[in-house]
Amino acid sequence: AKNVGILAMEIYFPPTCVQQEALEAHDGVSKGKYTIGLGQDCLAFCTEVEDVISMSLTVVTSLLEKYGIDPKQIGRMEVGSETVIDKSKSIKTFLMQIFEKYGNTDIEGVDSTNACYGGTAALFNCVNWVESSSWDGRYGLVVCTDSAVYAEGPARPTGGAAAIALLIGPDAPIAFESKVRGSHMAHAYDFYKPNLASEYPVVDGKLSQTCYLMALDSCYRQLCKKYEKMEGKQFSLSDAEYFVFHSPYNKLVQKSFARLVFNDALRNASSIDEAAKEKLAAFSSLSSDESYSNRDLEKVSQQVAKPLYDAKVQPTTLLPKQVGNMYTASLYAAFASLIHNKHSTLGGKRVVLFSYGSGLTSTMFSLHLRDGTHPFSLANIATVMDVGRKLKSRHEFTPEKFVETMKLMEHRYGANDFVTSKDISLLSLGTYYLTEVDTMYRRSYGKK
Ligand code: ACO
Repeated sequence: AKNVGILAMEIYFPPTCVQQEALEAHDGVSKGKYTIGLGQDCLAFCTEVEDVISMSLTVVTSLLEKYGIDPKQIGRMEVGSETVIDKSKSIKTFLMQIFEKYGNTDIEGVDSTNACYGGTAALFNCVNWVESSSWDGRYGLVVCTDSAVYAEGPARPTGGAAAIALLIGPDAPIAFESKVRGSHMAHAYDFYKPNLASEYPVVDGKLSQTCYLMALDSCYRQLCKKYEKMEGKQFSLSDAEYFVFHSPYNKLVQKSFARLVFNDALRNASSIDEAAKEKLAAFSSLSSDESYSNRDLEKVSQQVAKPLYDAKVQPTTLLPKQVGNMYTASLYAAFASLIHNKHSTLGGKRVVLFSYGSGLTSTMFSLHLRDGTHPFSLANIATVMDVGRKLKSRHEFTPEKFVETMKLMEHRYGANDFVTSKDISLLSLGTYYLTEVDTMYRRSYGKK
């Protein structure tokens, strides 16, 4: 199979959200801390009628319908998620309800979990399957689904929720450049979920930022090394049209891209002009440890990177800023934003993605884009995802109502023997929702 990659995409996020500006006032932090300091506009969250299973049922059903895919044509389905519900029972098995109805139970794959990286692991598995001798000619399907919620405190505004479905096959408009790829995997306690009675992670915010940037540096070095070995010339930021980052909050994405600019300056790469190189040269003698905590370097590199950031990164930031951290779906929602904004000019372009999951696992990889042919074209993917309408038709909750919802969800997490309000007035037609969890913890869902 040639040009294996993403044929089609669909995204779903809850229609319920809270404005970051309103949260700032409610939390009593200084004005601008969440909107400018973190770079976030709005945060989407599940109410008691939605969860990662309902969102993934919604997004998979919608993808199959809107691209006219026969459910019998799916041969592998992989879910990436870090939201733990039934622990031993995968989210994938819930999605089988869609396929059983059509007599298709011959679908490989289970869930992949490592913080925000599970979706990338699932994606690589599906691409590898299509490229392998066990491929049976059918499509792969990747589902990233997460509800990111944090305890009250500084991490809470970095929550979010969404599900994304990616259809995988050959001759894709979004093809993998599988040899241009670098990974960095290590042991760290930056973010993890050891308390199984709570949905909230234990998080060392500052450590997680440093781990993220160290992983980014390492992946970029690996990717450059492999590219140079293969192509016989240096790789630089000029060799890709866009850079897409896992986005816990936008400020970290700004810092990440500035970090890549600093890397290119140190490598004397052609992407950085002489004036910029001069400004960054002052920091070339810092040890790498020092460089992660040097505020002047952060400031200067972000300033130097600004024009390149506006051109190569800004078009990828819409959904992560509007929806928040979607954990496994975050990177792919950023990529979806790029398709939404630039689909008509992406043909022939290279796009580099950086996936990070705390704990930690990370990969930087490259995609080659082509216009494609209907229904698997970039233009149709943008039409189907309909990001503009989905964002516009949301309902804003007050911070008080958001906090109240979080409290209710704390009680519901891991609980049994309850029915939900079944209030689906805010959900759009075709959305799945949770109706009850019985005494045996069995979950039931309805469809609006
Ligand atoms: N106006 C403008 N900017 C402001 C204001 C203001 N009024 N107040 C603060 N800021 C800036 C700060 O200077 C800082 O920016 P800087 O980093 O460029 O200096 C930024 O806002 C954040 O302020 P901090 O005081 O650093 O924020 P705090 O420590 O309270 O929380 C954190 C931030 C650590 C990211 C927290 O939200 C968190 O723990 N989030 C979850 C962990 C996370 O997302 N990690 C990322 C990688 S791992 C993953 O994906 C889960």
